[in-house]
Amino acid sequence: PLHVWLDADPGHDDAIAILLALHLPEIKLVGLSTVHGNGSLEHTTLNAARLVCSFASPERAAALPIVQGAAQPLLRPAKHDTEIHGDDGLGGVEGLLDGTDEHVKRKLLEAKAGNVVLAMAEAARAMPGGEGDEGRLAIVATGTLTNAALFCATFPELVRDKVSQIVLMGGAEGRGNRSPTGEFNIICDPEAAAMVFDAEVKVVMVPLNITHTNLFTSDDNQRLLQAVSSSAFSTGAKTPLRHTLSTLLNFFAATYLKVFGFEAPPVHDPLCIAYLSHPHLFKGTRFRVDVETIGRHTSGTTSVDLWGYRDAELTAMEDPESRASWGRLGKNVWVAEEVDVPAFWALFQECVDRADEV
Ligand code: BDR
Ligand code: CA
Repeated sequence: PLHVWLDADPGHDDAIAILLALHLPEIKLVGLSTVHGNGSLEHTTLNAARLVCSFASPERAAALPIVQGAAQPLLRPAKHDTEIHGDDGLGGVEGLLDGTDEHVKRKLLEAKAGNVVLAMAEAARAMPGGEGDEGRLAIVATGTLTNAALFCATFPELVRDKVSQIVLMGGAEGRGNRSPTGEFNIICDPEAAAMVFDAEVKVVMVPLNITHTNLFTSDDNQRLLQAVSSSAFSTGAKTPLRHTLSTLLNFFAATYLKVFGFEAPPVHDPLCIAYLSHPHLFKGTRFRVDVETIGRHTSGTTSVDLWGYRDAELTAMEDPESRASWGRLGKNVWVAEEVDVPAFWALFQECVDRADEV
């Protein structure tokens, strides 16, 4: 399996990314770090511990490092999205272990004692390296890019030699969600995003254009619940885990309907994990992408060079296919443009089956 480090701000859709990262056999999750974003760092870290202890076996949860990261962006005050995710980042979710549980408490203490940059470095250093992706660590970022930027700035040689790619949910070609053209994760810390996009490593961007097609429909909900009329849970779910996931996704559905008018909620973050486990489900194109940090109306916008104004920089390189071709010049980002949505939801249901067994 591919070794993966997940950096997240849970968050309802981050929670689903964590579920997939724990239960897809193609992925070996080696660490989970937290960042400010959907909620305060205090909340996102507590949520990460709650989710891991609720979704994984006690042994697996104990063995997985959770590390608390940055509490604020590099240069700006932090923003939180309580409108979509509730006051604590996981509004409306029933049945998750909470901060009074002994396992959660222990994970939380551990998380607070860690250093995110050093923990990512240790995980990268443990990889053998080499040309193929199997010998390298894949980093997935489903929140703001502050932690990832600090890691890239501190250990550029590890990023170059031991990381296969940074797969991030963020950005958009065109329509944004928290400004006309800006997407939340990038808007929160555009300077950090600009640093990551220019790092000397393959960057994969999973933008709103495709996450807005990845809708959790009422059919998906029915399949999730496997409802039984005699069930003890209010949703009629067959197991406690299914009840929890259904309340989570239905809260997200309600806020997305209220705030953006979506009939079914777009579940953004887990697409990054599915991209790593099942890349053939995605289509995309390599482009030059720059992050606008100073625009009067466009700060936090990902400027995608659809017309190839800067292709010449890449063609001038010795080997435009090599790892060394990713970075400051030319096409620096592989932008995902299409995903097989039914195949994604089938993977989700498989993970729920597996998680039900632990
Ligand atoms: C992104 O912002 C957060 O609200 C979600 O968790 C996702 O990572 C979507 O813009
Ligand atoms: Ca997120």
